[in-house]
Amino acid sequence: MIDLSNAKLLDKKDVLSKFHSLFYHKKNEIYFDGNSLGKLPLKAQKTIEEAVQKQWGEGLIRSWNQYWLSLSSRISDKYSELLGAEKGEIIIGESTSVSLYQVTYALLKEGSFPKHLSTDILNFPTDLYVLEGLEKSFGIPSLKIISYKNEVEAEIEILKASIKNNPGIICLSLVSYKSAYLYPMKQLNRWASKHHSIIVWDLSHAVGAVAIDLKETETMIALGCTYKYMNGGPGAPAFLYINEEWHSKLLNPIQGWFGHQRPFDFSKKYEAAKSIKRFASGTPAILSLLGMEAGIDITLEAGIKLLQEKSIQQSEAFIKEIIQQLVPLGFSIESPLDHCKRGSHVTISHYASWQICQALIAGNDEHPKIIPDFRPPHFIRFGITPLYTRFEEIKTVIQVLKEIVERKLYLNFPLEKLEVT
Ligand SMILES: Cc1ncc(COP(=O)(O)O)c(C=O)c1O
Repeated sequence: MIDLSNAKLLDKKDVLSKFHSLFYHKKNEIYFDGNSLGKLPLKAQKTIEEAVQKQWGEGLIRSWNQYWLSLSSRISDKYSELLGAEKGEIIIGESTSVSLYQVTYALLKEGSFPKHLSTDILNFPTDLYVLEGLEKSFGIPSLKIISYKNEVEAEIEILKASIKNNPGIICLSLVSYKSAYLYPMKQLNRWASKHHSIIVWDLSHAVGAVAIDLKETETMIALGCTYKYMNGGPGAPAFLYINEEWHSKLLNPIQGWFGHQRPFDFSKKYEAAKSIKRFASGTPAILSLLGMEAGIDITLEAGIKLLQEKSIQQSEAFIKEIIQQLVPLGFSIESPLDHCKRGSHVTISHYASWQICQALIAGNDEHPKIIPDFRPPHFIRFGITPLYTRFEEIKTVIQVLKEIVERKLYLNFPLEKLEVT
């Protein structure tokens, strides 16, 4: 197990350390929220600035042919490489919520699976809302939300029994947003398939942090956002993966011209594109697409296996210190301890979590500002982002948390919560 007393040396020896300098870093601030919004790649800043000037400012409409029409496919292919999909099995363009709506609607209409939707208590609220909306539109039985004894880990036997007893379309987040619990993807895909069901995987908290092979895990549908570990920028479009065998069977409920077989024929009649492109709807957000390419390029260059390896090392070192130094001060660990069941953030709790979080963010004369995030009722999440998180920073956060609680510094901060945390 890694010992953080050697943190400086660990950073020196880190084979991924060179990637740190590819991002914008604010002085005197340690960022542990890359699991929510990733840092700015310097290349993205340059690309956007140049594109605004040259492509938009000067090229105007000509830039569609020269730069923009091929953009979504080019970035989609890079995501295919990262996720072990074939080229042409991923499309980028809408948000995660919209992609989930589109593909789940398409599955319900297509009719291969019983018209029953389920998810579980660990899933992110937007997924629940989208499914609930579909349930109302289709007039199908109520969305089933599977519960477990806590919000840290799924109980796989309960989940499997639910799939068996309520077959249909199941939506799960591969890494749970609160606790970082990581599901056994292949095992569940197989189980679902055996029980006349399909799992739609939300990879938002997993992509860029966990090595995923969509083929090896026999995944049929997956989607996720690109602004967390993928550093795609605020509101960067999501990716949607549909296994090729489903392309001709699923129809996009939002039939827009970008999903037409020949959009520039301007035909009066909609004809769905033959490929996954049918899941495009309207004009893509070009500046966001341009901004997200640097992030996937960096991740591919670093290599997802090495990134996951470093994430595990850093998380294990962090957890060890939490157990030794923070648990005696009233903290609890709300993430699975087994790294095979954990993504790349570590969640802790304390009865004064909100105030502790504010104390971290404020910093003081003796220590830097530290940015984690807060999730109700009392979770503090620390995103380990191996492209730029340093061992030294993990050591610092432990020392600062200890000081905030031992010296009761958190009492200087109000109890009421802000809108975005
Ligand atoms: C698991 C998961 N799904 C979806 C979203 C958000 O989706 P959207 O990109 O539509 O805002 C988040 C945001 O944090 C998330 O954690």
